[in-house]
Amino acid sequence: MIQLRKPVLYNGFEIKDGVKTINRLVHELSVDVYRLTNNNYLVLFIGIEIKDLRIANYDIIEVNVGDMTYPATILSKFSKSSLNKLVATATKKYGFSSVEGMHDLKEILINDVINPLRDSKKYAKFKVSIPNGILLFGPPGCGKTFIIRKLAEELGYNFMELKHSDVGSPYIHGTTISIGETFKEARANAPSIVFIDEIEGMVPKRDRLTSNSEYKREEINEFLMQLNDAGKQSVLVVGATNRPNLIDEAIIRTGRMDRLIYVSPPDLKAREELFKKFLSDRPIHNLDYHKLAWFSSNYSCADIEYISTEAAREAVKSDLDFISQEVLEKVIFKTPSSISKEELEQNEHFIGKQRR
Ligand SMILES: Nc1ncnc2c1ncn2[C@@H]1O[C@H](COP(=O)(O)OP(=O)(O)O)[C@@H](O)[C@H]1O
Ligand SMILES: [Mg+2]
Repeated sequence: MIQLRKPVLYNGFEIKDGVKTINRLVHELSVDVYRLTNNNYLVLFIGIEIKDLRIANYDIIEVNVGDMTYPATILSKFSKSSLNKLVATATKKYGFSSVEGMHDLKEILINDVINPLRDSKKYAKFKVSIPNGILLFGPPGCGKTFIIRKLAEELGYNFMELKHSDVGSPYIHGTTISIGETFKEARANAPSIVFIDEIEGMVPKRDRLTSNSEYKREEINEFLMQLNDAGKQSVLVVGATNRPNLIDEAIIRTGRMDRLIYVSPPDLKAREELFKKFLSDRPIHNLDYHKLAWFSSNYSCADIEYISTEAAREAVKSDLDFISQEVLEKVIFKTPSSISKEELEQNEHFIGKQRR
């Protein structure tokens, strides 16, 4: 069985000899290139229709992923159905292709992070470096952790996570050593990313610390020091938080976390896509996704996941053959959004403060 791995190539990076036609195309088009076996590549074209494509030397095939059809070409012969299976399993869970909505955020990450890391020579030539740090903030359940995990899948080996619970050592100073070690490894693997989820735990506001948390102060100082030099050494620090107002402001000062990105609750279109995603593997009948999206304004992605699962459970319990619109609407109406007004306001207040 051939393993279809992550796209190993992206926008032309690492393309080997003998694939010149494709090489030219990848620079012009958005493609994912998968390595099927050592010498066989599958090139998946995204966002263009088959009739737009003219390639002289390769057969164009159609590959179905979910309800989308992508044009694709391979550099050796596989049967179309076996390829469809491979692509469906591989692309479903992998990378940005499984992220609904969040188009602006994906674009920022592709342009400012993925491309400079993948094509570091080209970017270095133009003296364009990755940002020093990126902070994602916004109400809970809206995909901050999720998109960074997907970014990790896109990037593969050069991704490290610094977990607050991991570094929290019972021995005083133990934590600062762990922070230092993580960054050391990140520098050794550079270009790379260090991700800190729920970063307010790692770097809380210092003026709120009690006098006996001296070690915590040291930890924050250590982190800030590492952060200062990170970008220059091709290490990108990414933090995520539901509660930006609890973070020590020193990390946001210019040059440290230099991109602040608000991850808002999903918009109407994204909610529609999320319902489709979470219901896609379940028996459904005659659903009006647009209406479901309308009814779930201000709900988080996690809420929509919960509602979909809950509706499935209701359908089984009531011995229905499928999940109906009625069941879903009922569940929506009895499930309040998990995003509190307070959380939303705190996050919006934080946006306002940064714009000053
Ligand atoms: N853009 C998205 N596309 C698909 N699923 C998503 C998306 N954003 C969030 N989810 C789902 O919602 C869940 C909660 O998101 P999460 O990243 O944990 O939120 P946050 O970190 O912002 O609190 C995820 O586990 C994932 O299943
Ligand atoms: Mg999270």
